[in-house]
Amino acid sequence: MREPAAGDGLRIPPPHGPDRGASFTFRFDGREITAYPGETIGAALLAAGIRHLRTTRFAGAPRGLLCGIGSCFDCLVTVDGRGSQRACLTPVTPDAEVEVQDVPRHG
Ligand code: FES
Repeated sequence: MREPAAGDGLRIPPPHGPDRGASFTFRFDGREITAYPGETIGAALLAAGIRHLRTTRFAGAPRGLLCGIGSCFDCLVTVDGRGSQRACLTPVTPDAEVEVQDVPRHG
């Protein structure tokens, strides 16, 4: 049985978890994160224990994965400079630069 590799985070290793193939990395707020082919940005960040993906406009409250199916828009992140990308639907790619989506606070 394979032991969890560095960066596997919350993923279950084979034989109980799937064989994910070769890992790669991307960056989230300057931090290097491990990902596997076929994962979404949201899945890779959740596996790394990262739950804060955006900040609300008025209260400045943290938000993250909620529905996981593209309906709630609580998982919006900035990907390679493009804002309002849903982390739960966006496939992660090698060398992507992902950032928490912070918007200017009002009020
Ligand atoms: S978690 Fe609801 S849209 Fe992404």
